[in-house]
Amino acid sequence: DGDVFKYYADGEWKVSASKKSVGITNPSTLKTQYKVQACTQEEVNKAIESAHAAQKIWAKTPLWKRAEALHRFAGILKDQKNAIAESLVKEIAKPQKDSVTEVVRSGDLISYAAEEGIRIMAEGKFLLSDSFPGNGRNKYCLASKIPLGVVLCIPPFNYPVNLAVSKIAPALITGNAVILKPPTQGAVSALHMVHCAHMAGFPKGLLAAITGKGSEIGDLMTMHPGIDCISFTGGDTGISISKKAGMIPLQMELGGKDCCIVLEDADLELAANNVIKGGYSYSGQRCTAIKVICVMESVAEELVKKIVEKMTKLKVGMPEDNCDITPVVSESSANFIQGLVEDAKTKGAKFHQEWKRENNLIYPLLIDNVTPDMRIAWEEPFGPVIPVIRIKTVEEGIHFCNANNFALQGCVFSKDINKAILVSNAMETGTIQINSAPARGPDHFPFQGLRDSGIGTQGVTNSIHMMTKVKSTVINLP
Ligand code: G3P
Repeated sequence: DGDVFKYYADGEWKVSASKKSVGITNPSTLKTQYKVQACTQEEVNKAIESAHAAQKIWAKTPLWKRAEALHRFAGILKDQKNAIAESLVKEIAKPQKDSVTEVVRSGDLISYAAEEGIRIMAEGKFLLSDSFPGNGRNKYCLASKIPLGVVLCIPPFNYPVNLAVSKIAPALITGNAVILKPPTQGAVSALHMVHCAHMAGFPKGLLAAITGKGSEIGDLMTMHPGIDCISFTGGDTGISISKKAGMIPLQMELGGKDCCIVLEDADLELAANNVIKGGYSYSGQRCTAIKVICVMESVAEELVKKIVEKMTKLKVGMPEDNCDITPVVSESSANFIQGLVEDAKTKGAKFHQEWKRENNLIYPLLIDNVTPDMRIAWEEPFGPVIPVIRIKTVEEGIHFCNANNFALQGCVFSKDINKAILVSNAMETGTIQINSAPARGPDHFPFQGLRDSGIGTQGVTNSIHMMTKVKSTVINLP
């Protein structure tokens, strides 16, 4: 069927034997925009088998050649930025400019991974035995990094290209093969990215992109004995994957409720600007978005006033028009957000704007005087809706941060760096930004969540380390 995008395995674009497809709904029009193949279990098995065969060859390919291939991939991807951005706009309603940025950032990430990997993989260790009691100097240990085998990469809808390459590039440079399971929403953008890799020329089978329903092939992929590592970004599914997966390294990033603590001496203009950028961009559909503001009572009024004023300048509309607030990814997501908002309304929160929703398009809201009995104080809306909790003490803010199951990032605003560091130390989350909104990038910084926000550390350098193991050869002298 010419209308259905093919899946990729064995270095070829293929039609699934299932003759079934999965539809991708455009969040803005609510119409089916694209269709992708619903791959069968047999096709998954075959792709993993080919990946293993290709990985053996790839691992023996000189590192500089692997890096060269990745650089080619990065170049082709950047050349395709406008075409890929077009599908991002249609599949996930990301504003057009941000969609282009996602692709360019992805190209940069691939090149960086090639540069970083070539150096990290070149380094080994030479150890002598006589440091440890009871040993003479008769054993020489040569330790170096080797790949894990086949890495299963599962990115989410919000960065279907970038969070795919942030897994694929470290996997490939270290000599692994990759099975990519793109998110349904974002699959076509991911397939286009894979086509760039195809044109760059990797061994056949080294990279596969398997599309289909998670309910049909998800468990098979994540529990497959041929998968040697899983790198996942997404929601709750990650928790069930962790429970089902075998004894393999897991890298999981499962969302956040990033808390923004604003102290009395904060630069409120700076804090308000960061709430706008860090809370409402891509309609709040980022794991690292500010998802709750804890502001000291004495400055709350002024901060809220500034944010509300800046919110009036947010353009609400369609991604094609580069609006700031665009439709959220699905109807079920919009319904979930609405549920959180209604709960807060019923329980007496103060709304600074009217609730307004047109299909999946939700107008931005700042919900004030939020109390702990409201769901929005704890849950992640993944939409353009931010709760404000007015706090009497800094400890109260720290408590809100630490009592949440999510613990990805957080931020603190204060002109006193010593105070900010004390608060940062007390906030039990993966990363704290001082005087800026949470963010994953620059992409070589470590990126990790504590508690239900995940396991393992991402970021180019950390992923490179994580996707390898150590192999030693010990030379025993007489
Ligand atoms: O999952 C990470 C993503 O949601 C946040 O990335 O770059 O927007 O901070 P970024």
